[in-house]
Amino acid sequence: MSSPATTHPADRFGRPLRSLRLSVTDRCNLRCGYCMPEAEYVWLPKNDVLDFEELVRLAALFARLGATRVRLTGGEPLLRRDLAVLVARLAGIPRVTDLSLTTNGVLLAEQAAGLRAAGLHRLTVSLDSLRPATFAALAGRDALTEVLAGLAAARAAGFTGIKLNTVVIRGRNDDELEALLDFAASIGGEVRFIEYMDVGGATQWSHREVVSRAELVARLRARFGSVDAESDGSWAPADRYRLPDGRVFGVISSTTQPFCATCDRARITADGVFFTCLYARDGLQLRDALRAGASDDELLATLARVWSQRADRGAEERLALRAERQALADRDELRANPHLEMHTRGG
Ligand code: GTP
Ligand code: 5AD
Ligand code: SF4
Repeated sequence: MSSPATTHPADRFGRPLRSLRLSVTDRCNLRCGYCMPEAEYVWLPKNDVLDFEELVRLAALFARLGATRVRLTGGEPLLRRDLAVLVARLAGIPRVTDLSLTTNGVLLAEQAAGLRAAGLHRLTVSLDSLRPATFAALAGRDALTEVLAGLAAARAAGFTGIKLNTVVIRGRNDDELEALLDFAASIGGEVRFIEYMDVGGATQWSHREVVSRAELVARLRARFGSVDAESDGSWAPADRYRLPDGRVFGVISSTTQPFCATCDRARITADGVFFTCLYARDGLQLRDALRAGASDDELLATLARVWSQRADRGAEERLALRAERQALADRDELRANPHLEMHTRGG
């Protein structure tokens, strides 16, 4: 009989579990308008936040179920004290073959070398504008200089192929596509233009401000002549395109053309709640079982059961709402249930 340790479960749509997004804190040092537009937030209780032991144990269990890719997220993960220590421990899990981090870059200058030395493989940095005033207006803080210094430090530390995440918002930064492409090329990285999503936390979301993949590609095609789709057969959320000069960029079209059909992602919040969809209303709280001494086999069985029962296709359901589509949750709902927030669930 195959033990749970070697079973790689597929969900109800046949999707395997390949990727784990591990949120290490719900706190953030920026206030991006598409994610944290409110003046005040309800934070997770400190005692509920998983310690490194617990995070590493969960990652190792998920890896045994097939999640060999682990991405650290937040909130802002660099706010988690001694993050490099956690990275070193995660990098030591034999089945974890791809260990990455999504950060806003503000604290990267001081941490990049340590993270690299600890064994972090890949880095994605959010960068919505190269204009200081636009950056500050979008992020709620004048921090472009720090982010650029962080990127320089990351390169100096040996990170290559850094990905830049740009959420494109109509009328705010959608005139910077070319500048961002140039900047990405100048650092040997790759920009991914992300459609503004109506996720939990995006209380200001409106259809009007979304620049769709179709529009983005049409605009770039008008500017550069041709924009060719790359078919690399990967399951990444980004569809990749090539410009005539060879530069490649990505588009993440979760709003207008979701990738639910190939979604292989599990998420763990900083306080140990397991979500199988970015848009899911409910998750399974694993913290109590972890702290009550559940065995590895018990936990594996639970994780495998949840994944095999998964039938999420949240972004496709949002798309089906069409004109009725609005922010997923309002301010009061989010205050009552912070787990609905993108910054809690991991961006
Ligand atoms: P790699 O493919 O490993 O580079 O990672 P990634 O592209 O998933 O990483 P990243 O954290 O940079 O995610 C990019 C963006 O895709 C996020 O900021 C979200 O806007 C969107 N996204 C991430 N995960 C999901 C998801 O599970 N569902 C949907 N619909 N969108 C997601
Ligand atoms: N729409 C699209 N992407 C979002 N993110 C957070 N909120 C949204 C949203 N409403 C993503 C951004 C950021 C990452 C941490 O989370 O890509 O880079
Ligand atoms: Fe996966 Fe849910 Fe995102 Fe669809 S909306 S891609 S199912 S997490």
